[in-house]
Amino acid sequence: MIIAQISDTHIALDTPDADQRIRDLALTIADINALDPAPDAIVHTGDIVHNGRQDEYAQAVAILAKARAPVYVLGGNKDNRANLHEAFSACGYLAPDSDFIDYAVENYPVRLIAVDTLSSASNKGDFCLERVRRLIDLIDAETTKPIAVFTHHPPFEVAVGPDRLHFETPEMMSRLRRALQHSGRVVAVFSGHVHRAAAGHVGSIPATVMPCIATTLRKGEYPAQMKKRPVYHVHRFDPVWGFVTETRIVGTAPAAAATGDSILPRREAALHQPDER
Ligand SMILES: [Fe+2]
Repeated sequence: MIIAQISDTHIALDTPDADQRIRDLALTIADINALDPAPDAIVHTGDIVHNGRQDEYAQAVAILAKARAPVYVLGGNKDNRANLHEAFSACGYLAPDSDFIDYAVENYPVRLIAVDTLSSASNKGDFCLERVRRLIDLIDAETTKPIAVFTHHPPFEVAVGPDRLHFETPEMMSRLRRALQHSGRVVAVFSGHVHRAAAGHVGSIPATVMPCIATTLRKGEYPAQMKKRPVYHVHRFDPVWGFVTETRIVGTAPAAAATGDSILPRREAALHQPDER
């Protein structure tokens, strides 16, 4: 079981770096398509677009449609639940009548569970009692397989950066942590939101945060030659060893562009801009 995780693409159409954000996602999908062996699934852990707009989702959907593996998406604080639902409803895994973007994917050796941590009040995470019940119901719907859980906001304090806690209150994060540990079958938690790599734990469950795909929004120090190269994670599951996570740096433009030549339905020139390194 191989999962490619992408996150925080923040697709926008009218920011100065809009073309770069589109290019970052397109090149990342091209890089994932070239992985050998190929991933079984791609999970986007939220902040797909920057302003929750329908036209931004249309752009994101057009690029994600080029992925060879099935794509599963979560909502981030910059996403709009209704517009996200509408944009991805044809994929079949989002319940049309749900107030939350949470679901389980059952057709792999590892169950994938997507958690909704969006708050209507702030950019930080929320996890209300209703979502506790929904998560436990999703976890308990099957009792034999290991589970990988995906969240936008990380369920552990990230000590690097200006803000350690990415939930509105410590209690909200504690609720999520308790729910994740209740079955003993969750073997990994994969998150986004922080825009920099981090690793922690939820009890004994390993938990990681991946950097953002949008290179212009990435936090942390990177060498100059990596400034325009997106970074994503590949999680490989072994029944004995659990998940091993590889950090992938998206290839240089010529190789990736060759694979992703027809990825962009418009703004195509973004793929062929001269490298400004
Ligand atoms: Fe976020």
